Amino acid sequence: MNLALFASGTGSNVKNIIDFFKKNETINIVLVVSNNSSAGALIHAKNNDIEQLTIDKDALNESTTICETLHEQEVELVVLAGFLLKIPEKFISNFKGKIINLHPSLLPKFGGKGMYGNNVHKAVLAAKEKKTGITIHFVNENYDEGAIIEQFETVLTNEDDLSSIVEKIKKLEKLYFPSTIERLIYKL
Ligand code: GAR
Repeated sequence: MNLALFASGTGSNVKNIIDFFKKNETINIVLVVSNNSSAGALIHAKNNDIEQLTIDKDALNESTTICETLHEQEVELVVLAGFLLKIPEKFISNFKGKIINLHPSLLPKFGGKGMYGNNVHKAVLAAKEKKTGITIHFVNENYDEGAIIEQFETVLTNEDDLSSIVEKIKKLEKLYFPSTIERLIYKL
């Protein structure tokens, strides 16, 4: 089973996923794609001899070339790990049921356009939520609305601030995202 990881930023999740599957003989990370040529995610790919691809918004929206590349590489699952551009319908219909996303809140709360990274955590803080967490879900044509695969929670107290929430979320992501991908693959 070949996987492609899409990421826009530092890529701590890309690193976790690469590390987790390193010794797996049947699940291979064959490509890391980013819309940001200076993304840390591309450096993690390079350090692990994984092919890297940078695409701009137009190329993503046009989709043909990127989908061809993914098919050539026999990619069967596309994992969005901190990828901040919207996946266009054309792409989704090419990889039906084979694109998943990680979102740093308990969807359907705090999802939708503009809800990414710290924007999500700030909204969680402002709403005085008693818990937050991560959601791993299939991608459909609407932001953060695809079917939920799994969610993992963490408790919040009055003492929590932005940096402690970031830490709690990172901990959940490290602990559960790669293993959830693995479980999903064995079910596909
Ligand atoms: C992660 O926390 C991920 O959940 C979030 O971006 C961060 C990327 O961190 N994704 C979204 O907000 C998607 N809407 P990373 O670059 O260190 O993996």
